Amino acid sequence: MCGIVGYVGQRQALPLLVEGLKRLEYRGYDSAGVAMMEQNRLSITKSAGRISVLEQQLDVDGSTATTGIAHTRWATHGAPTEINAHPHGDASHRIALVHNGIIENYTALKKYLQQKEVPFVSDTDTEVLAQLIGHLYRGNLEEAVREALRDVHGTFGIAVVCADEPGTIVAARRGSPLLIGVGQDEYLVASDASAILAHTSQVVYLSDNEMAVISADSLHTTTLDAVPVTKEIQEVEWTLDQIELAGHTHFMEKEIFEQPEALRNCMRGRVDLAEGKVHLGGFADVARELTRARRFIMTACGTAWHAGLVGEYLLEDLGRIPTEVEYASEFRYRNPVIEYGTVTVAISQSGETADTLAALGEARQRGALALGVVNVVGSSIARETDAGIYLHVGPEIGVASTKAFTGQVAVLAMIAAFVGRRKHLSQSATQEFLEALSQIPDRMEKALENNAKAKAIAEAYADRDNWLYLGRGYQYPVALEGALKLKEISYIHAEGLPAAEMKHGPIALISDGMPVVVIATQGLQYNKIISNIEEVRARGGRVIAIATEGDSQIANLASDVLYVPDTLEPLQPMLTVIPLQLIAYHAAIARGCNVDKPRNLAKSVTVE
Ligand code: M6R
Repeated sequence: MCGIVGYVGQRQALPLLVEGLKRLEYRGYDSAGVAMMEQNRLSITKSAGRISVLEQQLDVDGSTATTGIAHTRWATHGAPTEINAHPHGDASHRIALVHNGIIENYTALKKYLQQKEVPFVSDTDTEVLAQLIGHLYRGNLEEAVREALRDVHGTFGIAVVCADEPGTIVAARRGSPLLIGVGQDEYLVASDASAILAHTSQVVYLSDNEMAVISADSLHTTTLDAVPVTKEIQEVEWTLDQIELAGHTHFMEKEIFEQPEALRNCMRGRVDLAEGKVHLGGFADVARELTRARRFIMTACGTAWHAGLVGEYLLEDLGRIPTEVEYASEFRYRNPVIEYGTVTVAISQSGETADTLAALGEARQRGALALGVVNVVGSSIARETDAGIYLHVGPEIGVASTKAFTGQVAVLAMIAAFVGRRKHLSQSATQEFLEALSQIPDRMEKALENNAKAKAIAEAYADRDNWLYLGRGYQYPVALEGALKLKEISYIHAEGLPAAEMKHGPIALISDGMPVVVIATQGLQYNKIISNIEEVRARGGRVIAIATEGDSQIANLASDVLYVPDTLEPLQPMLTVIPLQLIAYHAAIARGCNVDKPRNLAKSVTVE
C-alpha cells in the first residue's frame, strides 16, 4: 500500500524523509521517490524497486533542503516503473504531489487537460491531479489544490509542494488516512504514524474532506470548502511495531480484518448500481471477444485455484458460458484442447507463480485470449496477458492468502456480471446482483464479529490432528479453502470435500470427536447438507457449522455454530470463508506456529 511522508522545518529534510520511507516499507511497495525544495528549485528523484536503490541516487547528507515530500508506491494505475513512481509534477515543473488512493474520474480529467495541451508522461491517475493543480495555480497553492479537488471523484491522501512557495506543504484527505506531526519549529505529514514517530508523537489526524497548510511555524486546517477547523493535538501511544500491524498481532490477522475495506477498494468505480452495469476498464478492448466466448478456462494454484472454482460456478450461473478450472501445474504439461473462442483466465495474487505463468503462456500460444486476475500491478502474469483486472486489495504479506481470495472472488463475480449482462441477464437482475455484491463489505464486518467464538472453537479442537471440511455448491470451494488455511499454518491435517463425496470413502475417517466443519448456509442444497450433518453426527464427529443468521434449527444439530449474514448464494463464499480463516489463524496460534511464515512455504512460488 502506498505511503506518504513530508517535512517542513529548520532541519535537513532529506535524511528524515528517507528514514520515514524506510519505516513505511513494511506496508509493501514497488517504487519510491522524493521531491525536495533545493534553493527555490524543485528537484524530484524517483526509482523503481527498493528504497536502497533510490537512496543511491540521492546525496542524503549533502542536501540543504528543509522542505520535501516523499512516497512509497504500490502500483494501481500503470506499472511499477520510475516514471509512474511519485512524486508527480506538473508541466511547468513548479508543483510536486504525492498521492495515496484512486482518482476515479482521471480519464475524463486527463482528456480535459490534454485538450488544453497539457503534456503527460506517466500512466497514473496521480499525474492527472498534479497537472490539474499546476493548470489551476495562480500564485496560491492552497487555492489551486482546493479548486482541483472540487473536480476529483475518488479517494485521496495528498501532500503537495510548489517551487514558488518553498516553505509550505499543502495536505488534504478523503478516504485515505493522513496526519500532521507537530514538532518544535517543524511539522511533518504522513499517511501512517510510523513514518514520523521517531521525531514526534504529537499528531493531528485529518478527517475526510479536510486540508492542512503547514510551514515551519504554522499549521492551518480547514475543510475542503475553506471553512476553518480547529483540530486537537493527540498523543500517539503505539510503538512502531504496533503501528506496522495496526494493533494486530500478525499480518494474517490484519489482512483478515482488512477485508471489508479491501473489497470496497476492489469494487470502487467498477460497480454501477444505478445503471446495473460493471465497468471493467481493463476489458475495454476485449469486451466483444468476451461476449462471443465459447468457453472459459480458469487456471491457478492453491487459494487462487479455489477462487477460480467459485468463478466457474459464477460464470456458468450468470454468464451461461461453459467454464473449467485447471490446476496450472497440470494444465501446462497436458495437451489441452483449446478451441476457437476459448478465454483463459490466470488468477494469481503475486502475479509471479511459475506454473500459472507457464499455463497462461501455453493457452495463449494455442490461440486462447489470455486474461489476468492479479493483485500485484506490473507483475509477470499481468504483463503477459491480453487484458486483465487488478484486485486492488493492497499488498498481502502473510503467507496464507486471505484478502486476495475474497478479492479474487469479487473480481470474478464482477466479470460474471459483466459477461452475463452482455448476453442474457436483464438490467434488473444485474442490478439485484450488484446491489448484493456492494453490500458484501458491510456483511463481512458482521462475519468478523465471530472472532472470539472462532478462537474458542479453534482452541477447543487445536489438539486434534485430523479435520474435515464439507460444503456443497458454492460452498465446496470454501471447504477446500478452509482446509488449506488450517493445514498450511497450523500443520493439522485437513481435507476439504464436496459433502456428497463423503459417502464414497472419506466417511470411514470419521471417528469419535473428529472436528468436521460444515458450511451449511441457506441455499439450494440446504436440506442435503443437513443430511450430511446427521451422517457425521451419527459417527461421533463434532460438527462445527457455518450457518446463516436466523437459522434456528442448526444449533440443535451442530456442536458449535458460527453465523454469517445472509446474501445471494453465489456471493456467500466471501462471507463463509471468514470464520474459516479465523479458525485457522487461532488454531495456529494455539499450536505455537509461526502464523505469517509457516514452515516450508514461500509467499510467492516462482519455481516449479
Ligand atoms: O500468488 P498466487 O496467488 O499465484 O499464489 C498461488 C498459491 O501459491 C497461493 O494461493 C497459496 O496457495 C497460498 N499461500 C495459500 O494460502
